[in-house]
Amino acid sequence: MFKVALIVLSDRAASGERADACIPVMKQRLGDVYSIVRERILPDDPGALQAEIIELADSRLADLVLTSGGTGLSPRDRTPQATAAVIDYEVPGIAEAIRAISMLKTKSAMLSRALAGVRDRTLIVNLPGSPKAVEESLDVVLPVMPHALELLADRVQDG
Ligand code: MTE
Repeated sequence: MFKVALIVLSDRAASGERADACIPVMKQRLGDVYSIVRERILPDDPGALQAEIIELADSRLADLVLTSGGTGLSPRDRTPQATAAVIDYEVPGIAEAIRAISMLKTKSAMLSRALAGVRDRTLIVNLPGSPKAVEESLDVVLPVMPHALELLADRVQDG
């Protein structure tokens, strides 16, 4: 079973001003194929997110880290920058696919700067910050996740 960490980036959810609705959607979409190893609701603070990703990847705590929120254009939206600072390399097709398919539903999907990338053997995927966007984005990427995570774990046989 793949290990997944869920991280929400939202000042208002982190302060308790608003209840988070994204983690429940992530869990519902992931079903019981994945083991949820960590859930965090963090403020839009790049340092906190970077520290989480580094710990999860370097200690091999998670195969997949899903973040939600902080990908747009408001001044506090810094999830993509924080992710970019700690990954070894980007996997651009994941974010491209999410945006391309989401654009068919909502034009504002082009405003998400979400990215995906790898640190060590952990895949990090940014998702936008609304429950609807989380649901739509996960529907795009989840069918490919088992193969992606097998490749990262170097468990795919040739031929
Ligand atoms: N992607 C999907 N699939 N569905 C959506 O409703 N909303 C967009 C976009 N991506 C949306 C989406 C909107 S309105 C914004 S502002 C950006 O994601 C950034 O969202 P964030 O700042 O919460 O990460």
